[in-house]
Amino acid sequence: MAVSASTGTHTGPSSNGPGTALPRFPEDFLWGVSTSAHQIEGAVDLRGRSVWDSFSATPGRVKDGSTADVACDHYHRYREDVALIRDLGVGAYRFSVSWPRVQPTGAGQVSERGLDFYDRLVDELCAAGVRPVPTLFHWDTPLVLEEAGGWRRRDMAERFAQYAAVVAERIGDRVPTWITLNEPAEHTLLGHALGEHAPGHRMLFDALPVAHHQLLAHGLAVQALRAAGAADIGIANSHGPTWAASDEPADREAADFYDLLLNRLFADPLLLGRYPDGIAELLDSPGLDADLKVISAPLDRYGVNYYQPTMVGAPGTGPGEFSGVPFPPELPFAPREIEGFPRTDFGWPVVPDAFAELLLDFRARYGDRLPPLLITENGCSYEGLDDQERIAFLDGHLRALHRALAAGVDVRGYFVWSLLDNFEWAEGYRRRFGLVHVDYDTLERTPKASYAWLRQALRDQKFSP
Ligand code: NOJ
Repeated sequence: MAVSASTGTHTGPSSNGPGTALPRFPEDFLWGVSTSAHQIEGAVDLRGRSVWDSFSATPGRVKDGSTADVACDHYHRYREDVALIRDLGVGAYRFSVSWPRVQPTGAGQVSERGLDFYDRLVDELCAAGVRPVPTLFHWDTPLVLEEAGGWRRRDMAERFAQYAAVVAERIGDRVPTWITLNEPAEHTLLGHALGEHAPGHRMLFDALPVAHHQLLAHGLAVQALRAAGAADIGIANSHGPTWAASDEPADREAADFYDLLLNRLFADPLLLGRYPDGIAELLDSPGLDADLKVISAPLDRYGVNYYQPTMVGAPGTGPGEFSGVPFPPELPFAPREIEGFPRTDFGWPVVPDAFAELLLDFRARYGDRLPPLLITENGCSYEGLDDQERIAFLDGHLRALHRALAAGVDVRGYFVWSLLDNFEWAEGYRRRFGLVHVDYDTLERTPKASYAWLRQALRDQKFSP
């Protein structure tokens, strides 16, 4: 299988460099920027509490001790932020709707004030000529629901679909493209298996039902959105090539297993209507076949969030932590550092070629079952306003994306993560992913060099032959 772990030689960057013009993308290619509600909105007093509020309030959970109570104060400054998006010259904005802002207790009573915010945001975007691409769930589960069992419970799926219907009824008339969930794999792995993200459960493989319930929530939300007239629906999953530390069978086996967790656990049920071998048995859930029919209803888009490749080896080898996350020795794989590439401030290797590798292999794996792709996130964390490293990152990844397009992968759009520096989950404000710098004392926004570079690159796209 082409996407499965590979051990080819992975050499350093091969980009032509940001000095030369980017190759030409299709005229109708959708350029955008992404954010999420909890990471930018603030205005915590005007919404219900989420799992991330209580997680951040627990000492030691967020590394810099911060919360997202204010974050970028986007709730009050969204007009300024939409102007930044418009001036950048992108055609789309992917944001998320905060479930506890719309339904403070996660069910029943709807907050008019909360819905009104998204109504105004969507109006502002439309007036600026920017396509709104809302994501319905980006990890901020209403706390009341979590306290009743959260995603460990199957009925979360129905609750989520009801919430989706409420949002669609209010803004659906102006929303052409919907994303149901963001990165359910990370939410399962980091939030429920390893406990590094909210809600902080450390259930290891007992977290598998959380994956299934999110998938079912996605499927039921697709039904609700279709019933509300939505014609363009997708989901955003994180993906990346998985490389084996060596050709030894134990390393290859470990890499195949990690590949299954990251690249197949969600994509196979969504696109093929079945779980990878062994997973259905572990899930042992009655009515699985009927659920899988709901989960695999045809999608119009498939969103890919790409950041980095991963190298893994046999269990019990390599360092005990990965990207700052301690790794439990009882897992059937051990992460390894990838050497020989530049790194972001987060320590993530910068490997544009792996982006092309991922897209080509993904197409080979799913073939005709794969709807047109949207790159719903790609970006990097670096300090500083003169962020030449971010420019090199984006340049390299866009060239890699273009190579995949030229090789026939159907990709319809690319969204940079992120418009603004923001609350980077368990890292707090220590990692800056924005094209626009945010001063967290004054909340002043300052476009970085990468913002100017992207704006010019998009202009060049429009005017080049
Ligand atoms: C993916 C997540 O969707 C987003 O919330 C996060 O900030 C970026 N990765 C960077 O870690």
